[in-house]
Amino acid sequence: MKKQYIRIAPAIFVLLAVVSLQFLIVSTTRGHGDVAPQAVDTEGLEPLGSDFLEENPYRLAGGEQYELAIEIGASGYNQNCARCHGLEAISGGIAPDVRLLEDGILGDEWFMERVRKGYSQNGAYKMPSFQELLSQEAMWAIRSYTETRPKPE
Ligand code: HEC
Repeated sequence: MKKQYIRIAPAIFVLLAVVSLQFLIVSTTRGHGDVAPQAVDTEGLEPLGSDFLEENPYRLAGGEQYELAIEIGASGYNQNCARCHGLEAISGGIAPDVRLLEDGILGDEWFMERVRKGYSQNGAYKMPSFQELLSQEAMWAIRSYTETRPKPE
């Protein structure tokens, strides 16, 4: 029992360090609300493995997978992105309106680039990287949600 604890202790420490780092980055930037970033439960979505795909697999699958992805993505978006990009993906001006991304694979590539790597300018964080926090499944679920929001007039 004790031995087992010693084995998992470093993993827990690393996990806590990553989570608190994310929180630190996000809490230094202002936005809507103060919801802490959240890992997203993607149960029911087809697992995607660790190689990053170029195109939204849930849109390609269509049907119930796509519907479930949109639903999961809505809560994932509200927990992790709305503070900057606006509730229901309607930008309040702090960060770009993600509904304006291109449809299809071009928008997919740009979306994944930003979400995985984040963005900083002159050493200042503008957007955190979500690589450590969100699974690939969660990222595509959020993309499914934002790409199906009605575009602004
Ligand atoms: C701390 C604020 C913040 C959070 C949280 C945040 N973003 Fe961003 N995001 C930004 C800013 C600022 C930019 C603009 C960066 C630039 O100038 O290219 C941006 C850019 C983007 C872009 C590129 C938009 C474009 O038109 O080029 C996408 C896509 C994006 N974010 C998606 C997301 C998603 C999805 C999440 C949640 C998982 C998220 N962001 C969370 C601040 C944030």
